[in-house]
Amino acid sequence: MMTSTASLSPSPAGAGIFSTPTLASDPRHLLGLEGRTREDLLALLDAAAHERDHLRAGGPDRSDLAGCVVMLAFIEDSTRTRTSFDIAARRLGAQTIAFSASASSLNKGESLLDTARLFEAMGAQLLVVRHSVSGAAAYLAQRLPRMAVINAGDGMHEHPTQGLLDLLTLRDHWKGQFEGRRLVIVGDIAHSRVARSAIAGLTVLGAQVTVCGPETLIPADVEALGCWRATTLDEALEGADGVMALRLQRERMEKGLLPALGEYASRFGVTPARVRLMKPGAPVMHPGPVTRGVDLPCEVADGESSVVLEQVANGVAVRCAVLQRAWSAWKAVHR
Ligand code: NCD
Repeated sequence: MMTSTASLSPSPAGAGIFSTPTLASDPRHLLGLEGRTREDLLALLDAAAHERDHLRAGGPDRSDLAGCVVMLAFIEDSTRTRTSFDIAARRLGAQTIAFSASASSLNKGESLLDTARLFEAMGAQLLVVRHSVSGAAAYLAQRLPRMAVINAGDGMHEHPTQGLLDLLTLRDHWKGQFEGRRLVIVGDIAHSRVARSAIAGLTVLGAQVTVCGPETLIPADVEALGCWRATTLDEALEGADGVMALRLQRERMEKGLLPALGEYASRFGVTPARVRLMKPGAPVMHPGPVTRGVDLPCEVADGESSVVLEQVANGVAVRCAVLQRAWSAWKAVHR
């Protein structure tokens, strides 16, 4: 069941508008990774790696996005994604406006679309949006002709910049080679936009994905996404090239789907013994926030296999690259 903290008005027809061919091919927007070509994904990863070199070298802030106003509309809680977009935009010289449901007219019943139209009328060009309804980013992109829309997580659908930062992290650990590699994604796959974006990107790049978790939290048609399902985590991890643990996303669950936490941790927690089932050096990933002791025990979250903070650092580089691309495309159309 999808829940909404802020109304989209009028409600998205059938909530099925995840994207359209026109929206997906419009380089101003980034609504998802599904359907993207290998060349497109690799170009984005190369651009992000280039941004990372600049950030690591401690290069000065730039003015590439001078004159660009980025609206950060996070209608759902976020720490790392919002601040990561904010830092990336400012480092490139953009102005950012942070906008939340609680401190705005959304509280007075104004729809997100009407609010976004205000920002468009005021001259904001880029909209970074997180919303609890799947399809929300595409819905807005279709209705805001003068804005570039970047999806920062829409319900249970996609989280494309998280997907890109995961791909960038894996590319580093896999020495640039996706073919023949296998990532295990464990946990609440059914409610995870992070898993959907990772699966979409990895399968296009030639890697395999094995999913594992409580039966109630694995979509019935998960194989249709191009991945394999394993019954036990030990079986899944044997010889794997990496693992991504996910949080139990209770806010998106219907009652009754959640197993007892102790049982969950013992069957699906990524323990040190389980890490040793993978190939030597295989990374342990987590998009955050980590529920310590449940999805990852502390000794693994803080251990040498964990690349959680690398993922966070890569997130800023990815968002720099994505904002650059959106702004260049926006200028090509509107200036
Ligand atoms: C995730 C999200 O919000 O989709 N977090 C993130 O953006 N890094 C995952 C989660 O909420 O569990």
